[in-house]
Amino acid sequence: MAEKKTYYITTPIYYPSAKLHIGHTYCTTIADSLARFHRLRGDDVFFLTGSDEHGQKIQRAAEAKGVKPIEYVDEIVALFQQLWKKLNISNDDFIRTTEERHEKVVQKLMQISYDNGDIYKGEYAGWYCTPCESFWPENKLPEGQHICPDCGRPLELVKEEAYFLKMNKYADRWLKFIEENPDFIQPESRRNEMIAFVKSGLEDLCVSRTSFDWGIKVPWDPKHVVYVWFDALANYLTAAGYIDDPEKFEKFWPANLHLVGKEIVRFHTIIWPIMLMSCGLPLPKKVFGHGWLIVDGTKMSKSLGNVVDPIPLIERYGADALRYYLLKEVRLGQDGNFSLPSFINRINSDLANDLGNLLQRTLAMVEKYEGGVAAGPTVKEPVDDELAACAVETAKQFEALMDDMKINDAINDVWGLIRRSNKYIDETTPWVLAKDEAKAERLQTVLYNLLESLRVIALLVSPFIPVSAADMWKQLGLADFDKALLSDGQTWGGYPAGTKVCKGNALFPRYDLKEEIAEDEAAKKAAQACPAAQEPTKPEISIDDFGAVDLRVGKVVACDKIPKAKKLLKLQIDLGTETRQVVSGISQYYEPQDLVGKSVVVVTNLKPVKLCGVESKGMILAASDGNGNLQVVFADGMAPGSRVR
Ligand code: MSP
Repeated sequence: MAEKKTYYITTPIYYPSAKLHIGHTYCTTIADSLARFHRLRGDDVFFLTGSDEHGQKIQRAAEAKGVKPIEYVDEIVALFQQLWKKLNISNDDFIRTTEERHEKVVQKLMQISYDNGDIYKGEYAGWYCTPCESFWPENKLPEGQHICPDCGRPLELVKEEAYFLKMNKYADRWLKFIEENPDFIQPESRRNEMIAFVKSGLEDLCVSRTSFDWGIKVPWDPKHVVYVWFDALANYLTAAGYIDDPEKFEKFWPANLHLVGKEIVRFHTIIWPIMLMSCGLPLPKKVFGHGWLIVDGTKMSKSLGNVVDPIPLIERYGADALRYYLLKEVRLGQDGNFSLPSFINRINSDLANDLGNLLQRTLAMVEKYEGGVAAGPTVKEPVDDELAACAVETAKQFEALMDDMKINDAINDVWGLIRRSNKYIDETTPWVLAKDEAKAERLQTVLYNLLESLRVIALLVSPFIPVSAADMWKQLGLADFDKALLSDGQTWGGYPAGTKVCKGNALFPRYDLKEEIAEDEAAKKAAQACPAAQEPTKPEISIDDFGAVDLRVGKVVACDKIPKAKKLLKLQIDLGTETRQVVSGISQYYEPQDLVGKSVVVVTNLKPVKLCGVESKGMILAASDGNGNLQVVFADGMAPGSRVR
């Protein structure tokens, strides 16, 4: 066994701007398997994931929902945490960038870098929509046009005071570091890209902003908030105990591995090391950029409607099946494809047939021929040595491959052992041996060898399909799976003779491909008909919470379009005691004359807001199916001012 080491592994921290999809699941599953492998090897592991919660986008999304940014992120982050639980992700910590422990770290790092003369005040230039109060990067704008994608008004090129980090100052040190640490950026193709990027000259990095305030304050100039990467990347230090737990920090920093998607390799391999150099901290040992998971050959996108939600897949097929598929199907470092048919085929062939069957057949024979207890091996034949050699060799090779992050090769090797064991059954034909009294000892030996092989297999599959591995262990009659180590699987003969097996349910059910596809199509059709119905329901509220909302019938007395604001209508609404101005984003659905004279339901005690510069004192209720259909809730016939409860 290799010597006991510490191993600090991280996933990126995810933006809570959307629900997590199967692509995020992919990244976290890889990290989890590596973390589990290192624990199995006896390493002292610290596995981190989390959420990246600041920034203008989140502030605006919260405003659009009429909630505080922290309330907005709390709800989404709770869903992330649920997902990781369902997928049996074994993270040791979950960091949220809105936590106080993180704020302290970001401020300390900024200050060190500033004191070292690496941060200076400058101007951030960007395209700005004054009514919407938002900056738009060039790449988010329609080609050649400088028009606000939200409201359609012309944008202005404006400048905002901001702080910048001197990137070029560290370019030579960075190049030297990369030369001396050829394994730092993986895979190698990404390394070459990054070297070329740095050699072509680095722009200074904007590290603070003043046009929004949902972020961590810059310690020496609190009208600035820290911008994106200085905040996000520092999470890896916070969780390692940089300020709060020096002993832990000493133990786990520098991190062994930052596992990230290919599009954020640049931030992790250039900005992050330069930030750390500026702060005088050691650099992580490795950044691995994995490929993207695409769906049925196409990149997942909301507009294409092909975003795959992992939750229904986990609920239907189980976390282990999904984990196995993602790890097996995608070659680490390359893009990979998710398709339901290939997923079902993998479950049926690799999990149910190869692995599940091996366990079922073996345990059924031990029960049938040996009363559930296999005695030790006595009558050996050469084929036994072949099986034993295959198991030991696979377990040793497994360690080297996983250590090298060759997850796909490791899985293929383990399935080689599973198939070898199935072949061993066919070669030794226990059912024939069972018919001959004189072969009783040979039969015991054969069954013992199968149990022993399954013991090794349970250990080797545990990083990938942890729940099934523990189930196998239990069915084999073994205890203390948590304490088992990889080294226990690297020698043959560890299965205690005389153990009583404990046959349970099949590890994986088989699925009918046609039925699964038909059900999936039906579910997709239902989701298309009403995407809103698929959105999770909000947390429970009390009748008092509901009672705090003042709902009244109001009669629309006037209604106008707002010039240049494509989506908005301005309504004057008679509420019985007063006439209110309400702005509503329904102009794609109603012409002003359609609404005049109609009675609508108004939320009257909503805090007033300005939408595209026009004051709105309330909100009218409308139903939308999330599919582009919308209808205002009408209450015709009711007097203005009537209560709605
Ligand atoms: N918040 C930043 C990361 C900061 S790390 C200090 C971020 N968040 S993200 O939510 O947009 O993406 C998180 C990770 O999910 C990235 O590594 C990204 O590559 C990964 N994936 C998002 N979609 C993916 C696929 N379709 N396939 C595989 N991984 C993908 O970036």
